[in-house]
Amino acid sequence: MKILVIGSGGREHALVWKIAQSSLVTRLFCAPGNPGTASLAENIPLAVDDLDGLLDFAIREGIDLTVVGPELPLSLGLTDLFQEQGLMVFGASKNAAIIEGSKAFSKDLMKKYGVPTAAYEVFTQVAPAVSFIDQLGIPVVIKADGLAAGKGVIIAQSRDEAVTAVTDMLSGNAFGAAGARVVIEEFLVGEEASFLAFTDGTNIIPLATAQDHKPIYDGDQGPNTGGMGAYSPAPVVTPLIHEKAMKEVMRRTVDGMAAEGRTYKGVLYAGLMINGEEVKTLEFNARFGDPECQPLLMRLKSDIVPVLIAVARGDISGIELQWYDDASVCVVMAAAGYPGDVIKGDVIAGLADATQIDNLVIFHAGTSLKGNDCVTSGGRVLGVTARGVTVKDAIDLAYKGVDTLSWNGVQFRKDIGSKALNR
Ligand code: AMP
Ligand code: GLY
Repeated sequence: MKILVIGSGGREHALVWKIAQSSLVTRLFCAPGNPGTASLAENIPLAVDDLDGLLDFAIREGIDLTVVGPELPLSLGLTDLFQEQGLMVFGASKNAAIIEGSKAFSKDLMKKYGVPTAAYEVFTQVAPAVSFIDQLGIPVVIKADGLAAGKGVIIAQSRDEAVTAVTDMLSGNAFGAAGARVVIEEFLVGEEASFLAFTDGTNIIPLATAQDHKPIYDGDQGPNTGGMGAYSPAPVVTPLIHEKAMKEVMRRTVDGMAAEGRTYKGVLYAGLMINGEEVKTLEFNARFGDPECQPLLMRLKSDIVPVLIAVARGDISGIELQWYDDASVCVVMAAAGYPGDVIKGDVIAGLADATQIDNLVIFHAGTSLKGNDCVTSGGRVLGVTARGVTVKDAIDLAYKGVDTLSWNGVQFRKDIGSKALNR
């Protein structure tokens, strides 16, 4: 079959890498893709939000399955548009993708269906928001309602910072329309985990567990990023936590979405905060996590294509996922300036050597070609992902890959996976 993957990040390179291993694939495309996907698929220069262009291409090329990586095309309604034309799509519909697209929606859903989450209120005016901040105390969490490229969450450490964040968001200065409503919530302590599951709207099949590393610096210091590294499995998700995540988070959410007339079909990602035996949901994403997707797909033994098809067709009852017992670790290498304004165009040295290392895959994200050179072209540049018998083996191998690669101003965390070692 002919498969089209939409997106251009490390997540999409991992999807292309895994899909390319399936015997069901005859041709594989990626739009727009990156130099990494180009080695396994045909890159098509169409932007992820060019819905008409993508639809034209899929019809013209006779694409059998379209797999959507990022959230933006889902919330623009790509799945609905393609399905109206009889095309098969892996990705949540527009009215289900709102679970990520509006934090106010997802918090209200959680409250209504008893999904454990932080206490919160939604505001459109500064004065009542400030009263609520005073009621909750410091630290307090301020979130822009809409999509803000992972930057719309402020953990305010002082009242002034909280009031400034709310004022900036509500005035439209900070995130435009995405900040027209804000969620203010209680600060939760604990350790985070990323809990992903495939669902057809009724059945739920969890993926292996994973953990992300959001802050830019070692020891979880500095501003949040899209994710500086991830590993799987995540021992913080004990069997008890896993059971609670399935029962209290996934089951209630999937059933709640169906009850709201927003049946969720796709991969559902819950960001969890785990404190002892307690699990609370920080947020939902309507897609695979990036970078979580990279280590997860390196551990997935099953052919992913039948799984994607079953989800797209709306019946996963016959699906079973097989995983390697090995651990996997992805270390993100980012450009200078990230997560602020990034410096682009630096030549990446060492790619040819790093690519030779066994059990290591260099997933491309913000890279592009300049003549014969591969250069940096985005914040997160590479996801250096290793598989090993233990987490320690996978960490060592991933950092061996990282040490082989370099460019001016490269940034990476040196402690990816250390929380798993410390358990
Ligand atoms: P979100 O996009 O809602 O997951 O928020 C991004 C990050 O902010 C999360 O991964 C957490 O690290 C942090 N965060 C969000 N909400 C809270 C909260 N209520 N308490 C503590 N940290 C939070
Ligand atoms: N790594 C977090 C996310 O994909 O949102």
